[in-house]
Amino acid sequence: MLEPNLVFRLVAFMSLISSCFTSIVQSACNRGCDLALGSYYTGPSNDVFSIAEYINTDASKILKYNQDTIPNVQSFVRINVPFSCDCIDGEFLGHVFNYDLTSGDTYETIAQQSYSNLTTADWIQRFNTYDSDRLPDTGNVNVTVNCSCGNRKISKDYGLFLTYPLWPEETLDSISSAANLSSELIRSYNPDATFSQGSGLIYIPWRG
Ligand SMILES: *[C@@H]1O[C@H](CO)[C@@H](O)[C@H](O)[C@H]1NC(C)=O
Ligand SMILES: *[C@@H]1O[C@H](CO)[C@@H](O)[C@H](O)[C@H]1NC(C)=O
Ligand SMILES: *[C@@H]1O[C@H](CO)[C@@H](O)[C@H](O)[C@H]1NC(C)=O
Ligand SMILES: *[C@@H]1O[C@H](CO)[C@@H](O)[C@H](O)[C@H]1NC(C)=O
Repeated sequence: MLEPNLVFRLVAFMSLISSCFTSIVQSACNRGCDLALGSYYTGPSNDVFSIAEYINTDASKILKYNQDTIPNVQSFVRINVPFSCDCIDGEFLGHVFNYDLTSGDTYETIAQQSYSNLTTADWIQRFNTYDSDRLPDTGNVNVTVNCSCGNRKISKDYGLFLTYPLWPEETLDSISSAANLSSELIRSYNPDATFSQGSGLIYIPWRG
């Protein structure tokens, strides 16, 4: 027969173990990182000031991460936009931007134009109460963009990651030579990605 004190300690120990276990199982992240980058295609009409507004930051902060394109962000180029990468609801790493609605917006135009495919209409909708085809003309919506803080199991050398929307015609090879990184390294951070699918997000380690 076990003495009561020992039984108590055993029960306490087991419930401690099981609560550790459930919290590991339940939360996919427990913290984020101060900085992540997003690859933003300027298109024909987005200037650095409108982009800064979408990204809830200052134009000067964006220019800091795009030294090659100073003093003005050109049309039809990919630039890097900085934001903090947060652990959202313990579930995933992302950043929730605050977007000011204008008349005619849909979740799709917001995702594809204002946020340059860094997110999708479905993913935006998830974090808002409005119906997709009934957005008001004013007010704001939450725009969630996924990000990465790296993985110490893969490498400790990379702490900064670029959220990169894939384009048609791109391949793992074209992306890795543009980033001057090995294909193996990029694949290791994106084990489930189909690099040639022409859409979707990957995470590219970034010098910095
Ligand atoms: C986003 O993706 C859509 C559909 O593939 C495409 O038409 C649009 O040009 C893309 N937007 C940007 C800014 O690349
Ligand atoms: C963001 O990440 C979540 C969790 O991994 C995933 O379910 C979602 O599809 C991702 N969103 C986009 C736009 O890739
Ligand atoms: C945006 O997210 C916040 C915090 O979760 C929530 O209170 C708010 O209702 C959301 N906005 C919309 C338009 O759903
Ligand atoms: C690419 O990376 C290699 C090795 O890491 C380096 O020697 C080379 O200078 C880099 N090239 C560019 C254009 O950054």
